[in-house]
Amino acid sequence: MVKLFEPVPDEQTILYVKNLKTWFPLRRGIMDVIKRIPPRYVHAVDGVSFKIQDGDTFGLAGESGCGKTTTGKTVLRLVDPTSGVIGYHPRKRLLDEWAENGYEPPVIDDYGNIDLAKIPPRHLKPLRKEMQMIFQDPYGSLNPRLTIYKILEEPLVIHKIGSTKEERYDIVAKALEAVKLTPPEEFMNRYPHMLSGGQRQRVVIARALILQPKFIVADEPVSMLDVSIRAEILELMMELKNRMGLTYLFITHDLALARYITNKIAIMYLGKIVELGPTRRVLENPQHPYTKALIAAIPDPDPRNRHILRELPIKGEVPSAINIPPGCRFRPRCVVYDNTPKIQKYCEAIEPPLIEVEKDHYVSCWMHGEPEEIIKLLKK
Ligand SMILES: Nc1ncnc2c1ncn2[C@@H]1O[C@H](COP(=O)(O)OP(=O)(O)OP(=O)(O)O)[C@@H](O)[C@H]1O
Ligand SMILES: [Mg+2]
Repeated sequence: MVKLFEPVPDEQTILYVKNLKTWFPLRRGIMDVIKRIPPRYVHAVDGVSFKIQDGDTFGLAGESGCGKTTTGKTVLRLVDPTSGVIGYHPRKRLLDEWAENGYEPPVIDDYGNIDLAKIPPRHLKPLRKEMQMIFQDPYGSLNPRLTIYKILEEPLVIHKIGSTKEERYDIVAKALEAVKLTPPEEFMNRYPHMLSGGQRQRVVIARALILQPKFIVADEPVSMLDVSIRAEILELMMELKNRMGLTYLFITHDLALARYITNKIAIMYLGKIVELGPTRRVLENPQHPYTKALIAAIPDPDPRNRHILRELPIKGEVPSAINIPPGCRFRPRCVVYDNTPKIQKYCEAIEPPLIEVEKDHYVSCWMHGEPEEIIKLLKK
């Protein structure tokens, strides 16, 4: 019996997305309009489904341009989705906030979750207290003209937390202590350029956590940092996660790092998830030819083996996200397709769904399961 992936939320689910799409329209010239050339889109996120449980560090991996950041931003509604569901666990604090702001109650989906995709842009403010993003670039994401104190106080003022200046001062001091910038007074009056890269990323983390959110999208949070301080920032993030009961969507292109830090992982290719499951399973027993290629590209930590250049089981370049190939979008680069004539007609015509290959481990490739049986399930 084949089983296809369905992001069905349960009690432990913090967030799930179903068939999420974020397309960016390309600019149209006057001639396009005159010639009635239909509008074209960058299919940055092109039908993504996954489910994140309370306490997960859920990895999202894949090469540059595959849509990781856009997925993270869409989930937080920093970018508007084109279609799909973003189901979020309805925390009481969040619902109360909605009511206090005099907003209409949010749309609740079939499972009792808030559908974030349906919230009108003007009603998004309460979400910021609940979900935050840690960006890759600590240089770019801090305002260079504000002191560290002002940077951390700003969200408190916007969300009316701390009724007096003293209260806010205490909250800021505690936030700095939590990220181990101590004594806090030492850092409050500095400007971002007066900190090291690692210290700046600590401020970015403090700012993301100061409103006591539950869900964090961390977008390559250590990739711009010096290798020597990556481990301590990651350790800090994991310590804060345990202490504050956070759940992470952790975006990275580094599978060695993902293995170390995530418990589940989704491998993305050209706007779509091609493999999904517990991190160990996926990395130790990869089933998708693309995942296999990514794993083969991880450098061997043993310096004695560095001279062995491994052949990448992949060909060609990433196609453009504007013209997605029909059928399986990985087909033009796939060596399995070349060597497996009996499934080629499926690869060419139909996008493979995520098919279960072992418990909780799903792969979108026609190599797995009986294609006709799967097609029947897709039609249901
Ligand atoms: N605001 C935008 N307008 C138009 N296209 C965009 C926009 N943001 C992203 N894109 C396009 O969407 C695709 C996915 O981009 P995204 O930044 O999500 O990739 P990524 O996986 O995070 O890449 P990287 O690893 O380089 O950060 C790319 O083709 C990108 O050019
Ligand atoms: Mg990115």
